[in-house]
Amino acid sequence: MIQRPRRLRRTPAIRELCAETDLTPRHLVQPLFVVEGKGVRNEIPSMPGCYHLSVDQLGKEVGELATLGLRSVILFGLPGNKDEVGSGAYDPDGIIQRAVKEIKDRRPATVVITDVCLCEYTSHGHCGLLVGGQVDNDASLELLARTARSHAQAGADLVAPSDMMDGRVAAIRDELDASGFSEVAIMAYSAKYASAFYGPFRDAARSAPQSGDRRGYQMDFRNGREALKEIALDLDEGADIVMVKPALCYLDLVRQVRDLVDVPVAAYNVSGEYTMVVKAIREGLVDERIILEVLFSIRRAGADIILTYFGRDFARLYEG
Ligand code: PBG
Repeated sequence: MIQRPRRLRRTPAIRELCAETDLTPRHLVQPLFVVEGKGVRNEIPSMPGCYHLSVDQLGKEVGELATLGLRSVILFGLPGNKDEVGSGAYDPDGIIQRAVKEIKDRRPATVVITDVCLCEYTSHGHCGLLVGGQVDNDASLELLARTARSHAQAGADLVAPSDMMDGRVAAIRDELDASGFSEVAIMAYSAKYASAFYGPFRDAARSAPQSGDRRGYQMDFRNGREALKEIALDLDEGADIVMVKPALCYLDLVRQVRDLVDVPVAAYNVSGEYTMVVKAIREGLVDERIILEVLFSIRRAGADIILTYFGRDFARLYEG
């Protein structure tokens, strides 16, 4: 007798009945790039369809996202000024701190996540403090903890350290607990690779390192076991959610991490992954349903949460 799997593919309704994987807007986190100024809504050249937004635009933006079922955002800031020590990152009146307050005032139900890192705020563009030309791990921890605390004070629900310094999750957890923010959760960029897929983001966030690269702190793409070690360390230090980043070239790790841990697993569908797809669609090379295929692959690999610039496209394309 011949096996006939096609029976279950025969009609749309049967396919719906048998589909193994579900993905809805509630699983997605929308990154937003916040800039100084008033009334700013400028398309980002390296990321078509994404915008630089001034703080006064955030209420409207988050409102529109919510009507699409997109209720979680992660914020990245472009400060007016950068310096050696990244003081804009932990300025109580900095761009992110004002952005968080604005969103929480106007749309308190939004899940507000903040990216905790120094690279957008340092003149040298590295994710930590430079001491003698090297990124100094332990000296950076205090500044990262201070940044996270200032985000919590502004009203952030989750803080997401993306710097890849050793011990930063513990340093941030201690600081948050000591300053009365034990309820603020940590989503750790635990397995974050040194990746060329961040190119468009560094243009969008003006955060490219001025010298050298990030391979001294972000992970080597040849390594998988090391990712599991980073995940274990971050959980030990108190991470509430762990992340694999980028997503598409690292789906093997998304699956392994999902099988290993009992906390939510996030995957970041990063800027390069986004822009490659957008350009191919705009060139007419591929149908835009490729967006669903990309996002479902990340979900099928085991991601509970997907950070993606495709939130609006997903909401439009998805017939759930
Ligand atoms: C900050 C940070 C980066 C991204 C998220 N947080 C850039 C980097 O590490 O260089 C990349 C996001 C993307 O490419 O979409 N450290």
